[in-house]
Amino acid sequence: MSQRKILITSALPYANGPTHLGHLLEYIQTDIWSRFQKLRGHETYYVCADDAHGTPIMLNAQKQGITPEEMVANVSVERQRDFADFHIKFDNYHSTHSEENKAFSELIYNRLNDGGYIKKRTISQLFDEEKGIFLPDRFVTGTCPRCKAEDQNGDSCDVCGATYSPTELESPKSVMSGSTPVLKDSEHYFFDLPAFEEMLKAWLTSGAIQGEMANKLNEWFEDGLQQWDISRDAPYFGFEIPGAPGKYFYVWLDAPIGYMASFKNLCDKTGLDFDAFWSTDSDAELYHFIGKDIVYFHSLFWPAMLEGAGFRKPNNVFAHGFVTVNGAKMSKSKGTFIKARTYLDHIANPEYLRYYFAAKLNSGITDLDLNLEDFAQRVNSDLVGKVVNIASRCAGFIAKKFNGKLSDEIAEPELLAEFVNAQESVAASFENREYSRAIREIMALADKANQYIDAKAPWVLIKDEATQRDAHLVCSMGINLFKLLMTYLKPVLPAMAEQVETFLNTELTWQSINTALTNHEISKFKALMQRVEMDKVNAMLEESKESLAPAKPAIDPNSPLAKEPIADEIEFNDFAKVDLRVAKIAKAEHVEGADKLLKLTLDLGGETRQVFAGIKSAYQPEDIEGKLTVMVANLKPRKMRFGMSEGMVLAAGPGGKEIYILNPDEGSEPGMRVM
Ligand code: MSP
Ligand code: ZN
Repeated sequence: MSQRKILITSALPYANGPTHLGHLLEYIQTDIWSRFQKLRGHETYYVCADDAHGTPIMLNAQKQGITPEEMVANVSVERQRDFADFHIKFDNYHSTHSEENKAFSELIYNRLNDGGYIKKRTISQLFDEEKGIFLPDRFVTGTCPRCKAEDQNGDSCDVCGATYSPTELESPKSVMSGSTPVLKDSEHYFFDLPAFEEMLKAWLTSGAIQGEMANKLNEWFEDGLQQWDISRDAPYFGFEIPGAPGKYFYVWLDAPIGYMASFKNLCDKTGLDFDAFWSTDSDAELYHFIGKDIVYFHSLFWPAMLEGAGFRKPNNVFAHGFVTVNGAKMSKSKGTFIKARTYLDHIANPEYLRYYFAAKLNSGITDLDLNLEDFAQRVNSDLVGKVVNIASRCAGFIAKKFNGKLSDEIAEPELLAEFVNAQESVAASFENREYSRAIREIMALADKANQYIDAKAPWVLIKDEATQRDAHLVCSMGINLFKLLMTYLKPVLPAMAEQVETFLNTELTWQSINTALTNHEISKFKALMQRVEMDKVNAMLEESKESLAPAKPAIDPNSPLAKEPIADEIEFNDFAKVDLRVAKIAKAEHVEGADKLLKLTLDLGGETRQVFAGIKSAYQPEDIEGKLTVMVANLKPRKMRFGMSEGMVLAAGPGGKEIYILNPDEGSEPGMRVM
C-alpha cells in the first residue's frame, strides 16, 4: 500500500450561533474519515475554519453591542471547545477573517479578473432607507406574488412553495426596521460561471460527485448556468474588493478560499509545502465534506473559481444528508434542536453519538434520523453488550490467575484469521464512506467472539486444575479478538481506543492487525463504557426545550403578574372540584368588634349562606346590598370569632381600598354554576 497525501475539509461553520447535533454529523463523519486515513498510514491533514463574514454576522454583533471581530472570536472559542469535546481533531482550525484568506481572496479575484471572468453590471435591489443598507433576501418579507399568502420570506413562499426574487414580493417590508424598502441601483461584480460549463460537466462526470447529486447538477445545467453576483455594498463585514472602494466580496466568495487559507496557516506553522497540495500538478488528494444544502457552491462555483485562477480542483465533494431527531426536522419547541453543549452536559460521553452516527452513515445524501430510543438501545446492545463484554469476561481471569499475561499460543488460528482478514473489507467500507456497512461487519465479528466465549465457558474451565490452561487460551483468544475489533473501531471511538491501548499495553495500529498478542502482559481492566440512560436523554430534551423556547414578552415590573407570577399548572379535574356559584348579596352588615369584616347573607336561589368577607376597607354595606357576585359554594365552613363562615366571595386586588368584588354579567341568576 503506497502512502497517499490527503487534504480533507469540512464546511466552515458560520461564526453565528451554537454548535448543534446537525453540525456534528458532518464534523464527526469527516473526523472518522481523517482518523481512518491516518490509521492506515497516509499523510493526512484535516483543516477547517470559522466562516466569519456576511450580513447576518454583522447584524448579530451589532445587536450584542460588540464588533463582528469580537463576536467571531467569542464564537470560535466555544466552537473549538465543542469540537474538541467530541474528539473532532483538526490539524488546523482557522478563520476566514484572516490575513491568509484576504491574500488568497485577492489573488484569486485578480487572476479571475485578469482572465476576463469578472463582469460589472448595475442592478436594482431593495434598500432599507432607515438603516442605510441593501437587504439580503432573508431580510425582506411580504405577500407571496403567487398565492398571496402574507408574511412570506424574501426568496420563497412557505405556503405554496413558489420561489421568486424579493423585488417580486407584494407589500415588501424590511425585517430590520419594518419600513417599506425602496429599489436602489448599484454596480455589482459578477463571476462568469457559464464560461466554465464544459469544464464543469467533464469534472462532474469524472466521478467527483455522488450519483444522486450528479442528477441534481444536471438539472442545474438544463436550467442554464447564471452569472454569479460576488459583490456586496457597504456596510458589510468582509474583505473589500481590490480597486473597488465600498464594494465587498460576498461571503460565499471568500468562504471556500478559507480552506486554502487554513491550510496555508498550517504550512507556515509546520513547514509543509502548500503548492504540493494546491498546484495544478499536485499529486495530493483533496476532499470536501459538506451538507447537501451547499452543493451548488462546492461543485459549481468553487471548482470554476479554482480552474479560472490556476489552482487544482478537488478530487471529490462528499455531500451528506441532514440530521432529523425522532423522525422530524430538529425543532426548538419539541426540544429536538439539541446543542452540542446540552448533549455533553447531560449525556457526557461523545462516543455514543459518534458510534450512532457511524452506525447509520453511508455515502448517500438521505437524511439521518437520530431516534433517541434507538440511540440508547443501539449503543447499549452493541458497544456495552457486545464489544466491551468480550474484554470484561476475559480480563479478570488473566489478571487473577495468570499474572496478567496472555497465553504463549493462539488457540484458534482460523477464527483469528477471519478477524484479521476482515481488514480489507472494513477498510473498503470506511474508504467509501459506507460506515454503517463497516459497523455491521464489525458487530457481526463481535457476535462471533461472544459466541466463542459462550461455547468455551472459561468460567467453568477455570475451576478445574486440569483445564486451567484451556481457560487461559480461551481468554487470551478473547482478548486478541477484542483487540482487532477495537482497532477497526478506532476511527469511530478514539478515546475508548486509547483506554484500550493502556489496558492492552500496546498501540492499536493498522499494522498491528497482523500481529497477535502472545506471551504479552496486559494491565488491569477498567470499565470502558457505561450504559446510556434514557432519563439523561429525556433531561437533555427537556433542557433543549427550555433554553430555546421563544422569549416571553417582557413583563412590566409593576404589573400584578410581576408581583405574583401565575401559579403552577393544574389539571382540569382539580379546577372542577371548586364549585363556583352566582350569589345575590341579600344582606350586608357591619360586625360588632370586627374592623375588617362585613357579614354577608348570600342568596343562592333556594339556599342562603352566611359569609364573613374581609372587604370592609373598600365597601360600605349599602354599596353592595342587592348586587350579584360569585362565591365558592363548596368551601368547608369555618368557625370564626363572630360565627360560622360558609363560603367565600371572589374579589381581586391587593387589599385596603383596592378590593374589587366580582360581578357576573347581567342575565345570570343566583345559584348558576360558574365554569
Ligand atoms: N458557512 C457555510 C459553509 C461554508 S463552506 C466554505 C455553512 N455554515 S453552517 O454553519 O450553516 O453549516 C455548516 C455545515 O453543517 C454545512 O455543511 C451544513 O450542511 C451542515 N449542517 C447544518 N445543519 C445540519 C443538519 N441539521 N444536519 C446535517 N448537517 C447540517 O453552511
Ligand atoms: Zn405562495
